[in-house]
Amino acid sequence: MDLAADSPDVRLRALMAWWREAGVDSAEAAAILEAPMARSAPAAAAPAANAKPVRPRIAKPPPRAAAEDARAAAAAADSLPALRAALEAFDGCALKQTARQTVFSDGVEGAPVMVIGEAPGREEDAEGRPFVGRSGQLLDRMLASIGLSREANVFISNVIFWRPPGNRPPTQGEIAACVPFIERAVVLARPKLLILSGGFAAQTLLKRDDGVMRLRGKRLTCPLPALTDPLHAMVMLHPAYLLRRPQDKRLAWNDLLAFADWADELNVPRQGGA
Ligand code: URA
Repeated sequence: MDLAADSPDVRLRALMAWWREAGVDSAEAAAILEAPMARSAPAAAAPAANAKPVRPRIAKPPPRAAAEDARAAAAAADSLPALRAALEAFDGCALKQTARQTVFSDGVEGAPVMVIGEAPGREEDAEGRPFVGRSGQLLDRMLASIGLSREANVFISNVIFWRPPGNRPPTQGEIAACVPFIERAVVLARPKLLILSGGFAAQTLLKRDDGVMRLRGKRLTCPLPALTDPLHAMVMLHPAYLLRRPQDKRLAWNDLLAFADWADELNVPRQGGA
């Protein structure tokens, strides 16, 4: 099908069919289509027949400007509630236009353990809290097996604060707009130990491009210039990955035990557990 030659209606229907295949339901698709475009340019008059093709104006701010705005807004927050408010007021990430709400954190602020995942999915977007869907339930069971929970001793957040449409991977610009906020959240939360859940959180916060299988289960340090003490971090397999590959749960179990040993050495209180 030559979509470029088709009418907007045909192209719209093809796009909707493709979204359906990718798992975007019709309510979400409608929300995406109805969301106001970021600073969209006014409709242009029809070009003259011999005019050069004009590139569409870029509607959203270039990533570097959004990242700078994000850095300034995050740096100005001096507490986690202030950071949440700054994030909710921040309009530099295009994902905010299609998400239902900002998903910042759950659990105990100031807890000794902080978990950082990738991005909210459908359930998190609906509820406004990270890790509440199926993978969140598995995460809770994994944490409980070593005496950790979001009710008692864990603070949870994500690198990305708005659900990407259809759970697609976030773009570089979207990541750049979110990273200053999650890094500031870590500085303000000051956990004794960080769990980076999955390759995306690991690579983004450790600023390394090794795969998750290389990074998992090791005692690592997260490079955050704003912190004077080293920030201890361990990478774990993401629960969504474990739901797809339950045969790798034995690797996750080894990592949890290694994490529990490290927590004990650092006098992190745990309840029961392995
Ligand atoms: N996966 C994540 O990485 N984060 C969530 O909040 C939910 C699923």
